[in-house]
Amino acid sequence: MEHIGQTDKRAKMGLLQSDELYKYILESSVFPREAEPLKELREVTARQPLNFLMTAPDAGQFMALILKTLNAKKTIEIGVYTGYSLLLTALSIPEDGKVLALDINRKTYEIGLPYIQKAGVEHKIDFIQSQALPVLDKLLEDKENEGGFDFAFVDADRENILNYHERLMKLLKIGGIVIYDNTLWGGTVALPDPSSAPEARKPDWHLAVEFNKALAADLRVQIAQAPLGDGITICRRLY
Ligand SMILES: C[S@@+](CC[C@H](N)C(=O)[O-])C[C@H]1O[C@@H](n2cnc3c(N)ncnc32)[C@H](O)[C@@H]1O
Repeated sequence: MEHIGQTDKRAKMGLLQSDELYKYILESSVFPREAEPLKELREVTARQPLNFLMTAPDAGQFMALILKTLNAKKTIEIGVYTGYSLLLTALSIPEDGKVLALDINRKTYEIGLPYIQKAGVEHKIDFIQSQALPVLDKLLEDKENEGGFDFAFVDADRENILNYHERLMKLLKIGGIVIYDNTLWGGTVALPDPSSAPEARKPDWHLAVEFNKALAADLRVQIAQAPLGDGITICRRLY
């Protein structure tokens, strides 16, 4: 079972009581409904050295449901890697929908690109190889882009996460949704301090905790924290 078998040295991606329960969720509900090109992209990603970066399939399945419920047409993805969440987004939006996909690394995007092409959804993707923040700032130079997006998924660097949030509060329409990945940081956010967290979770531990506090205090959004994958927080822009 590929996802659990991945070499995540930080922690198992599932946050549940047992690996068996997480395996059960993936095998009983997620994998049977996963589109074939997504499955292939997941399998090719599992062979990459940094395979633990991929968005967890259970979080992805939930995201696809949100995209459909929202009828999302224009979306932003910050942090593409090999494109698992990008492909599921492109599969979930209509034929004339667009995903603006931002990543500093084009090479990893190209690992997943053949599966995106095979799925026939490449035309829905605008991939920009760049730091995400300047692209968001550039978008905001044009007033027309304010409130122009239905959905965003943020799964990149932690240092800029609050900066992304501020920009997205302008770029998303009222009622639009942004999902942030890794908000439970391998479950370590519940620790009183990072000293006993796995080494790889220590550097950004404070950022993860601070971000959760900031979202809880941000009255511009309705929020829900879900222990899917590495923890996701769903935010709906209220005003
Ligand atoms: C956790 S991975 C994304 C996983 C992806 N959502 C998936 O489904 O596989 C994080 C990605 O963010 C990218 N990244 C890191 N810092 C960035 C930045 N400042 N701007 C844009 N992309 C960034 C990395 O290159 C990496 O590909």
